[in-house]
Amino acid sequence: MDFSPQQVIDKPCDADTFKPFWNDTPIKTYLFDAFSVLLPAGEQFVISVVEKSAAQLQQTSALAEDSRRFVAEERAHQRAHRLYNQQLEKQGFEVKQYELGIEKDLQALQSKWSLNAQLALAAAFEHVTAVISGVALRKHGLLSANASSQTRLWRWHCQEEVAHQHVTTDLLQALGIPYWQRILYFLAASALMAFDVLRHLHGFARLDIARGRVSAKEVRRATASLLLRDGTNLMLMARGWAAYFLPLKANKTRDCQ
Ligand SMILES: [Fe+2]
Ligand SMILES: [Fe+2]
Repeated sequence: MDFSPQQVIDKPCDADTFKPFWNDTPIKTYLFDAFSVLLPAGEQFVISVVEKSAAQLQQTSALAEDSRRFVAEERAHQRAHRLYNQQLEKQGFEVKQYELGIEKDLQALQSKWSLNAQLALAAAFEHVTAVISGVALRKHGLLSANASSQTRLWRWHCQEEVAHQHVTTDLLQALGIPYWQRILYFLAASALMAFDVLRHLHGFARLDIARGRVSAKEVRRATASLLLRDGTNLMLMARGWAAYFLPLKANKTRDCQ
């Protein structure tokens, strides 16, 4: 799907046009906004790992070509989410400091970990992202059916995440990463992402309550509604997450030199 990141800034966020919560409820809005905070640095990490891993393949192979397309898509996501996060900053959320912290942590990790460990972590990030994307996109999924600029951006991003998720797992197989390493880094990635998303979500809610944009009662009610009324979405997310423990399907090509 064609999507210009410029659309995010061409059309003001709904928060600027008196509809404060673009994803229907405060908690669902905070959830996706919190994910967005992780993306510019997280996608930079994944791009760099996929480039380094793909450099070990025959450059004419299908997986090397898929990897180049993957990198181009992630760069476009990264640009879009930088603009998205700038809009959050304009709304008063201190996103920049969060982004810098995540960037610093991932850079430190890249300087210390082996490429195999980095690829195992990147594939885990991609799996979690693709599972959430799939649940976000379904009918009555986690994304609103409205046509806000944020919803359109997320639909475009989630569709590409679901479609290109196989690239990092194909690279895991091509580089011969063992099961134990894939699972170890998957558990670490899941814990890291959950911690960061919940931390940012909490920060957004706390600021909005403090400045009277929403009441604590409304946030509690929206959280209860997410837990009770989105049971199917949460169950599908848990099932998709757990599917990573299954052995990978055999890769069609073994592209290492
Ligand atoms: Fe992405
Ligand atoms: Fe991705």
